Amino acid sequence: MSGGSGDSFVIAIDGPAASGKSSTAQWVADELQFLHVDSGALYRAATALAVRELGAADSWEEARVVELASDVTLVPGKTSFEPRIRGEAAEEEIRGADVTKCVSRVAQMPAVRAWVNEQVRRAAVGHSVVVDGRDIGTVVFPEADLKIFLVADPWERARRRLTQRLGRRPAEAEIAEETERLVQRDAKDATQTVQARDAVLLDTTYLTQAEQVERIVALARAVASSSRIVEVEDEGSRRVRSYRPA
Ligand code: DC
Repeated sequence: MSGGSGDSFVIAIDGPAASGKSSTAQWVADELQFLHVDSGALYRAATALAVRELGAADSWEEARVVELASDVTLVPGKTSFEPRIRGEAAEEEIRGADVTKCVSRVAQMPAVRAWVNEQVRRAAVGHSVVVDGRDIGTVVFPEADLKIFLVADPWERARRRLTQRLGRRPAEAEIAEETERLVQRDAKDATQTVQARDAVLLDTTYLTQAEQVERIVALARAVASSSRIVEVEDEGSRRVRSYRPA
């Protein structure tokens, strides 16, 4: 049953842009004492290197981009795997506008996709993980222990994203503009954003993030209870670490 390697437990969370995948995945990982892997961050790190080194995006060659990507490493931290570019954290750079503008192009390159998939699969060797992305349940871990596909109404996704970015209540006109941008991004990433047949569809339009997390954690525990727990952390509280198929 395990989607990763050995005894690791894999939860795949896929869905469109701004559906809350990454923050939900991190929260679920924290609750279960798993590590979070944000696969989109790897596409972003490869794109950041291309922005630094390759000039205008329409001339980027796949072979060159994938060669640059070898300077990106995925390093396990306390609660998540973090991408490093030439050994340095680059969170601000990979979330910036230049990278966001070009990342869909890089994510269409098959060699880059193969590289990302390899990094993510390697992270799950010996670690139980919550991985978020677009194709985690279909391509990267088709045997994941639990698959979730998160969706939300585009207007609501835009409203949440703007509220977070601006730190205030956005105006209707701002939400309308952001909704349009999101819908365009969804279209660019549509080919690889696929709900696995065995994924649980979770529409979060009317859910708080705490409710989403609670549901996913409950599902994970239900799946795990049909498996044999092979390691339980100490410190008095029973913190499930990893499982073996029953
Ligand atoms: O989720 P995000 O915005 O950080 O993703 C960045 C880009 O990478 C976006 O264009 C979608 C793409 N992506 C993908 O194609 N497959 C994944 N598993 C994760 C992200």
